[in-house]
Amino acid sequence: MFEAVPLDRLRERTSVKWRFFEPDVLPMWVAEMDVLPAEPITHAVHDAMLRGDTGYPHGTGYAEAFARFASDTWGAEVAVDRTALVSDVMMGAFELIRMLTPPGGSVIVTSPVYPPFHAYSRHAERSVVEAPLGDDLRLDLVAIEEACARVGGVADDGRARAVLLLCNPHNPTGTVHTRAELERLAAITAPYGVRVISDEVHAPLLFDAEFTPYWTVDPRGLSLTSASKAFNLAGLRTALVVGGDDTAADLAGIAEVVSHGPSHIASIAHVAAFDEGREWLADVLDGLRDNRALLARLLAEHAPTIRWRPGEATFLAWLDCRGTRVADPASAPDPGYIGLSTGPAKAFLERARVGLSAGEAFGTGGANHVRFNLGTRPDVIEEAVRRMGAVA
Ligand SMILES: Cc1ncc(COP(=O)(O)O)c(C=O)c1O
Repeated sequence: MFEAVPLDRLRERTSVKWRFFEPDVLPMWVAEMDVLPAEPITHAVHDAMLRGDTGYPHGTGYAEAFARFASDTWGAEVAVDRTALVSDVMMGAFELIRMLTPPGGSVIVTSPVYPPFHAYSRHAERSVVEAPLGDDLRLDLVAIEEACARVGGVADDGRARAVLLLCNPHNPTGTVHTRAELERLAAITAPYGVRVISDEVHAPLLFDAEFTPYWTVDPRGLSLTSASKAFNLAGLRTALVVGGDDTAADLAGIAEVVSHGPSHIASIAHVAAFDEGREWLADVLDGLRDNRALLARLLAEHAPTIRWRPGEATFLAWLDCRGTRVADPASAPDPGYIGLSTGPAKAFLERARVGLSAGEAFGTGGANHVRFNLGTRPDVIEEAVRRMGAVA
């Protein structure tokens, strides 16, 4: 699966992964995978183009395809009438934040976390409140309750003063929150009126863990999902909000300007992914299992000062570089920036010519960490780790 595209063909790609850095840099950063799409997706898009089916989206086809996938994959039921199309996961999060909280409200995030959680919240003019993960890289429910007590409550206009933007599975650690953790989260947030928005875009990329969709444990929960990460369709923009039992009014409140964004062609692609891309996904997961084992072996051999606790999901490896020669005492969380001006990511880029996501950008807990993308050729992984090991 990950050997299908030779390196020189990957370098011909024009998306950000392969174009951001200079050509001698191995790009191990942004969450794109170096695969060819599942054939049914290519055919579905091609057929749509031949039909001239390039208009606006209509109907609940995306939600129905996701419902079949969620039921077959996780045994979770989706009520199609409690879903809404949005242009992508992060714009969905942005709009839900703006809808559920008043201006000046807060977004609680469990750092270190996907940098746009900070940036989009700030762009929505809400303050970011961190409830960092514990040392075990799992949710710290005590810290979350403290944050809820600090910034929760009900605003004068009846809206929640705060939402919690959850990442499940968690980017960058790959942690999959358990049903018990999520039930506790729902119980902790409810008394403070804090609403939970759960980003579940990595959920189909699961290794031997059980995934619990948040809408199934919290009737007021709102999950965001998309085929974009698991099926590598970030260039085909569309996503879905899935709400719990008590979210009908919330979903009805999503403005028309928001539902205007999703692309019809993208929806056709994502439907094909959920319905017909499952064998391809199984092959990707097999390839990722191999790449995870390879990374563990290579780190032990070439870069033993880098520590890695493999997560239970996704193609991202969160590498702890605190014990390396490139650890930077001045490294500090700097959420939201692309993060190449300090810390190990800067050293690996300048001295090893490996482009990584800088941990500092992920907020508290991210200093002297880097995020390494495993969704690529094994020989690229090997060369990247060799290069990193030479300076670490
Ligand atoms: C946790 C998480 N959420 C959202 C996204 C982006 O999704 P979208 O492109 O649909 O906004 C990513 C992309 O890497 C991600 O890792």
